[in-house]
Amino acid sequence: MNPKLTTEIVTRFQDKFKTQPLVLHSPGRINLIGEHTDYNEGFVFPAAINKGIVGAIQKAEKPYCTVIANDLDEEYEFSLNTIKPIANGQWRNFVVGVVGELQKRGIEVEPFNFVFGGDIPKGAGLSSSAALENSVVFGLNELFGLELSKKEMIEISQKAEHNYVGVRCGIMDQYASMFGEKDRALLLDCRTLKAKTYPLEFEDYQVMLINTNVSHNLVDAEYNDRRDVCEKVAKLLNVNFLRDATKAMLNSVKHQLSEDEYQKALYIIQENERVLKAGKMLEEKNVLGFGKLLFEAHYGAQHQFKISCKELDFLVDEARNNPHVIGARMMGGGFGGCTINFVKAEAVNAFSEDISKKYRKAFKRECSIYFVELSQGTHLTNN
Ligand code: GLA
Repeated sequence: MNPKLTTEIVTRFQDKFKTQPLVLHSPGRINLIGEHTDYNEGFVFPAAINKGIVGAIQKAEKPYCTVIANDLDEEYEFSLNTIKPIANGQWRNFVVGVVGELQKRGIEVEPFNFVFGGDIPKGAGLSSSAALENSVVFGLNELFGLELSKKEMIEISQKAEHNYVGVRCGIMDQYASMFGEKDRALLLDCRTLKAKTYPLEFEDYQVMLINTNVSHNLVDAEYNDRRDVCEKVAKLLNVNFLRDATKAMLNSVKHQLSEDEYQKALYIIQENERVLKAGKMLEEKNVLGFGKLLFEAHYGAQHQFKISCKELDFLVDEARNNPHVIGARMMGGGFGGCTINFVKAEAVNAFSEDISKKYRKAFKRECSIYFVELSQGTHLTNN
């Protein structure tokens, strides 16, 4: 990760607290394919990236905790005796949420100081929140010798998001951020939490992210609504999760569902199939087949699961019309954030320029383009 950012965070910590911190890198993630399948106990295909959160943590001498969000230049002090969700608390809820979830499990920590900063643009759909939660839980685990496994840590991070932030997210982001491997993507079974790792060997193709720089309102409510629909259909089908549903089963209850609910459940069934197919395509080095799956996934996200937006659709349409792009789709929870594109290496510059110009013209705003490397999950670092 960014060495300049690491130095900045460590310096801020030392200036403020006059002690030497433990330093953590906790990455964000991309997802090749498989959206909203994680909370259906299905399949996803994420990878940790070389952008994320840098955290510096150490025990406090005072009887309370102090946390500094370096990028925002905001400071928050809190007592360990009064942990609860904070209304409009934003980043604060990720930190106190982790502490609260530890306490819920009977795990007590002592006062600590924490400074963090990141190089993931907020709202880009690259999971800065999971990276932050993981950095806190990993840091506390080290600092107080809690002996939590990585699996326990990501469950705590996820629950912090459910109970303090109010998003009933799946496990993909926390898993990818914690278990990421350098140069590899993780095809994760969200039921068993077992992943098969794949090198991303696309030879002539490059992964390019395009950020719409929009994040539409009510994203959290829309997200929870999608989860409710999935749970409703699963219940009707008498299965615990849509992971266990087939198209034939779904068709047998079609008359009890609205067209909208039917399409959403169908999307989940098909998206799970696509993730598994994507793994096979990579094994067979069938790059074009892999790319086609991405376009199909976007179609499903746009028309069936309805988690896209006009800016994302525009970027994917442009990608589809460009012969040098073999696959593209919206990435993450939806309603804004980034698209992921697989672009012929020699055409990357031309495509970047072309799409930036067209996006500016269509929406009177800029898109941002990122190239990322696949990286190691949350870890301590010698700064
Ligand atoms: C968000 C959630 C994840 C996952 C994705 C959509 O990133 O945090 O758990 O559901 O959306 O795939």
